Amino acid sequence: MLQISPSILSADFSRLEREVADVEAGGAHMLHIDVMDGHFVPNISFGACVVSSLRPKTQLFFDVHLMISDPLAYAPSFAKAGADMITFHYESDADARKTIDVIRGLGLKVGMAVKPGTDVSVLEPFLPQLDLALVMTVEPGFGGQKFMPQMMPKVEYLRRWAQKTHDSLWIQVDGGIDAVTAGTAAAAGADVLVAGSAVFGAADRQDAIEAILRSASSVGRTV
Ligand code: DX5
Ligand code: ZN
Repeated sequence: MLQISPSILSADFSRLEREVADVEAGGAHMLHIDVMDGHFVPNISFGACVVSSLRPKTQLFFDVHLMISDPLAYAPSFAKAGADMITFHYESDADARKTIDVIRGLGLKVGMAVKPGTDVSVLEPFLPQLDLALVMTVEPGFGGQKFMPQMMPKVEYLRRWAQKTHDSLWIQVDGGIDAVTAGTAAAAGADVLVAGSAVFGAADRQDAIEAILRSASSVGRTV
């Protein structure tokens, strides 16, 4: 089943509790939480204290996307703060195998991400140990950028791999997803769609989520 993970990066941080309640009521399946350190990407967002403040306010699954250089060092504090899944970047400085083991040892689901310039095949040795593989469809760092359709072969590659080997692997796309590009990503085989500005930038978040789901179902995906 296709899932929508609205990114709070595009929410109004002065009223975060209500913003999260709004997408929860509007049909979001999880909440995408973008953590940036100003080093791995040229932007700073927020840290674990924001995650722990939100944790008691919602039932949503916390999909934490670490765009930081040292995910191994910070994974325990995000686990403690209430993350359900931690996704880290292949391009980070951390040893990937060790980072997967630490996140798993904390009792969480584990994801690995690749930036647009990174070949998706670098993930292959890790895929059997992952719950999710994330294909970035913009350069990480900012919301509101244009979707890169040329990333779809990466999604197709992961979908083929999952069909052959590990059917429960979630394939996530992140960046520029809206009611048009969601169809492109879903047709390529993505099953977790992150959407920041398309959801939080809309006056009616439920309408925005439903439009994204309709776009995915129009290409034959179950939503
Ligand atoms: C980008 C972040 C994304 C971002 C998506 O670095 O990882 O999750 O919030 O925002 P939109 O959907 O606006 O491209
Ligand atoms: Zn993200």
